[in-house]
Amino acid sequence: MHINILAIESSCDDTSAAVMQDTKVLSNVIAGQDVHFSYGGVVPELASRAHQQHIIPVVDTAIVSSGLQKTDIDAVAYTNGPGLLGSLMVGTSFAKAFALAINIPLIEVDHLDAHIMAHFIAGQHPSPPEFPFLCLTVSGGHTQITVVKDHLHHTIIGKTIDDAAGEAFDKAAKILGLGYPGGPIIDKLAKKGNKHKFLFSEPKIAGLDFSYSGLKTSFLYHIRDNIKKDPDYITNNINSLVASIQETIINILIHKVTLAAKKTGITTIALAGGVSANSALRERILEEGEKNKWKVFIPNIEYTTDNAAMIGITGYYKYKAKLFSSLDATPYTRSSSK
Ligand code: KG4
Ligand code: ZN
Repeated sequence: MHINILAIESSCDDTSAAVMQDTKVLSNVIAGQDVHFSYGGVVPELASRAHQQHIIPVVDTAIVSSGLQKTDIDAVAYTNGPGLLGSLMVGTSFAKAFALAINIPLIEVDHLDAHIMAHFIAGQHPSPPEFPFLCLTVSGGHTQITVVKDHLHHTIIGKTIDDAAGEAFDKAAKILGLGYPGGPIIDKLAKKGNKHKFLFSEPKIAGLDFSYSGLKTSFLYHIRDNIKKDPDYITNNINSLVASIQETIINILIHKVTLAAKKTGITTIALAGGVSANSALRERILEEGEKNKWKVFIPNIEYTTDNAAMIGITGYYKYKAKLFSSLDATPYTRSSSK
């Protein structure tokens, strides 16, 4: 017997719905929101409104393109946090109404667990990572290292104490006037730059925690001071500026993940979250893997940034464990442990 799950993700600025059959993706539809581009970040109220407009057509398209009927669906999985409250409310309300209407169970999914679980979506790796493994999850709102004990038990052993790695990309891009989200823009421009041209210092945070706010500030001062001397400083140096800041962001990540591998003795390392789409980070973790004899797992690009398939795969494992949620479940904006 197959398990068919409709999954919904609406935690930030993408509205996504997927239909999964066991671990296989039958459809995965994502509607982005261009409305935030000129603001240099997501505007929560605009995000909620766009989710409201997108949710029904996105779910409809996901069901139609899956080839299944509504009546074939066994459960609805949805993101209940962390994220923007208004955005989460749209997905949550829709998921509850759908589950109630056709009398199927509801499964709540943590967005960060889902980024990690994306590795179990069929067809990505010859075989998924073996437990226990370490996952470096890098997104717009979170940066963390997790010990993944099994599909359902994840323990965070290091996290950011201020900004996330994705935020560092986005804020650097905003300082340079490059638009939002900054990560993909910096990734592209950095290919043409010299990553050793500018040196930005790494924070000295003990243990496995991360910090990115100092880097953002020193980058801001660097730009401010140099623009005084040369008004065209950004234009004249854009590619090397982004290559150098990207290199520092990556060095911080690699430094901590190397420490985590040493401390735990775990040598299977996975990468997850929106920033794992970064081409330089993907290359670097593979190089480090070879050097340190790690077994490295990198998600397919389509499962790095927010998508409902990752919610669906998590929902599948929760369904098998009969971990259903009630219609009273409320979304949360932050997770205390994260
Ligand atoms: O996981 P995600 O889609 O959403 C959150 O859960 O936050 O991650 C979004 C973040 C943004 O900060 C975006 O700039 C970053 O991922 N990102 C990238 C790249 N693609 C997306 N950062 C660096 N390089 C990329 N290619
Ligand atoms: Zn995410």
